[in-house]
Amino acid sequence: MCEQMARRRLDRSTRPPLYMSLGPFGLLRCLQISFLLALLIFVFKELAPNGLAQMYPRLSVELLIEANDSATPTRDVHPYLFTTRTDLPTQGSLHQPENSPAPLIDVNPFKVQDEDPPSEEFAPVFIEEALMKRKDLRICELDKWNWTVADPDKAIFYFVCCGPIERFLELPRRTPERPYLCYDCDAKLQMGSLAQDDCLLRQKCSPKLVALLSRRDFMFSSSDLRGWNLKNDSALLLPGVTHVNHIPAPEKLMKNKVTPSDPPKYFLTFQGIRNVGLHGASYVRLNLEALLNTSMQPPKGARGASGEVLPLPEKAFSLPPDVFISIADKASNHKEMRPYFSLFDSAYGLVLHGHGRWSYRLMETLNGEAIPVILADGWILPLDELIKWEQISLQLPEELSLDPEKLLDRLPRDAQSIAGRRQRLRDVYGKLMSSQEKRLVGLLRAAALWKRQWQVLEKQTLRMLADAATTS
Ligand SMILES: *[C@@H]1O[C@H](CO)[C@@H](O)[C@H](O)[C@H]1NC(C)=O
Ligand SMILES: *[C@@H]1O[C@H](CO)[C@@H](O)[C@H](O)[C@H]1NC(C)=O
Ligand SMILES: *[C@@H]1O[C@H](CO)[C@@H](O)[C@H](O)[C@H]1NC(C)=O
Ligand SMILES: *[C@@H]1O[C@H](CO)[C@@H](O)[C@H](O)[C@H]1NC(C)=O
Repeated sequence: MCEQMARRRLDRSTRPPLYMSLGPFGLLRCLQISFLLALLIFVFKELAPNGLAQMYPRLSVELLIEANDSATPTRDVHPYLFTTRTDLPTQGSLHQPENSPAPLIDVNPFKVQDEDPPSEEFAPVFIEEALMKRKDLRICELDKWNWTVADPDKAIFYFVCCGPIERFLELPRRTPERPYLCYDCDAKLQMGSLAQDDCLLRQKCSPKLVALLSRRDFMFSSSDLRGWNLKNDSALLLPGVTHVNHIPAPEKLMKNKVTPSDPPKYFLTFQGIRNVGLHGASYVRLNLEALLNTSMQPPKGARGASGEVLPLPEKAFSLPPDVFISIADKASNHKEMRPYFSLFDSAYGLVLHGHGRWSYRLMETLNGEAIPVILADGWILPLDELIKWEQISLQLPEELSLDPEKLLDRLPRDAQSIAGRRQRLRDVYGKLMSSQEKRLVGLLRAAALWKRQWQVLEKQTLRMLADAATTS
């Protein structure tokens, strides 16, 4: 009933006030349900503060926006909350972050022309039945847009997902030119086990994973090609490409978008939860929280690269008025929070390593037209085969989280440079990320470019680990 109510609220301008149509009992019941839901959300938040990390900004903004409204906030629950995934998806390619300032004026942000690679190199595709049924992953939509074929022999890519690995191992052989494409498989196949000493030091790696990774007819797409090993930022990559994850959905981003002002309202923003990297892999957020003193219970010290506690200065660094950074261990501990999506009305937006290297923040920032300032060492950015990321973002070392002043100094202030980057990022987002079809076609184009050069590119991938394990 409350859901109906929320829907009806949208067109309430044309209707009598809701409480009239509900009657006194309906209203009472609805209030009751709202209260129960609110209680549930509260308990959930308190019990699982880390699990909520990724979603809480959204939740809290809705709470902020709707605090005035008796209806319960719409919930936007991320599937990871309900799975046992321990690491988050990521992706990768050959390119290292560039620290030297890139040329800034009128530079084409695309690495290849629109018509390259030609569609014969990446379409049509075949989607396995299990994946067709996974509406949440949105691969099946390729069918709706006519990119698919019913006969796997006619397909360039054969999409699979989610295991179990035994099933993959039994799939008939294809070729490196017409490979299987395993979408977002790394966590589900427990690739993380490869990062354990047993595999890396004692050459006792999971034989099934080794068998799969040594197959040249198997490619992967992920949100972080190094997601299997969060501790080593130069770890071997999954053989394949970084996709633009289906979450956050482009439609939802569009709906929440706050049209940026000219010039933008802020210079730099970030609001989110502390989220220390899994296995102590990153302390970027904790460091900024501590050094900027942004929460009611800031950490007692900052953390160095290997997790050692570093003393804090006597006085926290104070930010210029056009910079807003708010980080806390949980929503109720922020000193100040502002409506989440309005924060992307900014020249720059921080994209900080959270539990994993990748985060929703990148797409949120681009959708909001803020220039991403990415502190997530070792992350190969989405569709890196297609995009000159240095033309639309800044990738800076995580160690800058220990020196916020220096971090700010690294961001060009001049209006021309900012406007140039923002224009280019709008082009890139509009062409490759603003719909699920564009994201998937981008993935296919990137994968086609990767497989053109697979013999060279595979040298930096887990295939090397698999080959070594097979021969030893
Ligand atoms: C509720 O919203 C109105 C305008 O929409 C605003 O003036 C008022 O301050 C809000 N009240 C609260 C408690 O947020
Ligand atoms: C997809 O292909 C079918 C059959 O060829 C055609 O009827 C339909 O219009 C196509 N849809 C789109 C969106 O191109
Ligand atoms: C990280 O991975 C690379 C590539 O496999 C390897 O050469 C390097 O030794 C690893 N570093 C650590 C600290 O394990
Ligand atoms: C942090 O902020 C609190 C007020 O919220 C203040 O009392 C404290 O002195 C600040 N600490 C530092 C190190 O600046």
